[in-house]
Amino acid sequence: MIADAQVIRPLQTGFWENVLLVKVDGRTRVRKELHRLDTPWARDVFIREWRYLRELPESLQPPFVSVIAQCEGLLADPPPADQPLWFDMEYLEGFTDVRALLAEGDVGPSEAMRIQELLVTALIDGLYRLDGEPFEAGRIVWPVIEQVLAFAANDDDLAPYARADALMVNGKVLPNLPRTLPAVRVDEALRQQLDAAPSVVLHGDLFYENVLYRPDSPAIRLVDPVSVAGVAAGPVVFDRTKFASWLSGGLYALRHGAFELRSDPAGRHPRVDYAWAKDDPVLSHLHRVDLGGRVLAAMDELTGPTERAQTVLDVYFNLAMVPNTPMPQKLLRYARAVERQAQWA
Ligand SMILES: Nc1ncnc2c1ncn2[C@@H]1O[C@H](COP(=O)(O)OP(=O)(O)O)[C@@H](O)[C@H]1O
Ligand SMILES: [Mg+2]
Repeated sequence: MIADAQVIRPLQTGFWENVLLVKVDGRTRVRKELHRLDTPWARDVFIREWRYLRELPESLQPPFVSVIAQCEGLLADPPPADQPLWFDMEYLEGFTDVRALLAEGDVGPSEAMRIQELLVTALIDGLYRLDGEPFEAGRIVWPVIEQVLAFAANDDDLAPYARADALMVNGKVLPNLPRTLPAVRVDEALRQQLDAAPSVVLHGDLFYENVLYRPDSPAIRLVDPVSVAGVAAGPVVFDRTKFASWLSGGLYALRHGAFELRSDPAGRHPRVDYAWAKDDPVLSHLHRVDLGGRVLAAMDELTGPTERAQTVLDVYFNLAMVPNTPMPQKLLRYARAVERQAQWA
């Protein structure tokens, strides 16, 4: 599949996708390839990501990375289901993703503010000015939540937790999701914040592993748009929730296994006790430097209050990955969803 390209080194290897630094005709590029043919859903998201980047107006490239080539398959309509797919992006030389910078301890307060200002310009003054297709929580959020609850109730690892009336998470007894969610679904304030809010073009997977920064002549670049369920348009609170969840350390720690977890499925209240890793360089750095306050404030200024939507979307984001992650991350995501839902006022 990569016959025409010489691989220099992998940038990220994933279950479905690889991101590779390659050379084609003597020029360096970044190739993203979907190599699993048996995952229709990952395939759909891959195609959407490619389409999203190609269809962005020129005024947004940059800050978004540009696509420079793709396999024949992607140009067919619909793309064939029995072939691997790939596309090539420009190589963002001199840019490093912010997570890597944090891991090196390379982000001071003034740098953090600069990154945020650049993000505010890219998003608030750029991307979020584009009208998006209508977003209906009813079409995306609730069906995903329902499917995952059904999955959990029948999953060997999760069933004792998913079927219990309440869980004990870090010493607190919390009502389980099937008990709390029905009232949430019919909440009018939530509907206002989620369905009645303007729908704009979103990044969809907005967190600091998909934001690259260049310290010399400061600039940012955005990569990897479109969320796991294929969402790329909707209310700004969708991006806000994911962004805040990474900044809090939670999403980062889940993604990179930077946590400890003990669990006990027995009894009336199955137990989950967890803590984030104490010695992780990214987590420690995140506590010392504010990489979010300015961006979140600008988002809130644009949207007004979104607390209810943040809660539900946090539950949704945690649950959406449950069927796609192994233990113990799978259980921790479920427990985090329960914990978050319990904060619904
Ligand atoms: N065009 C690019 N130039 C340089 N580095 C890139 C580029 N695209 C991605 N990367 C690096 O590779 C990582 C993974 O790419 P990404 O598109 O986010 O893949 P994934 O979907 O696997 O998260 C990014 O976090 C970034 O560090
Ligand atoms: Mg990424």
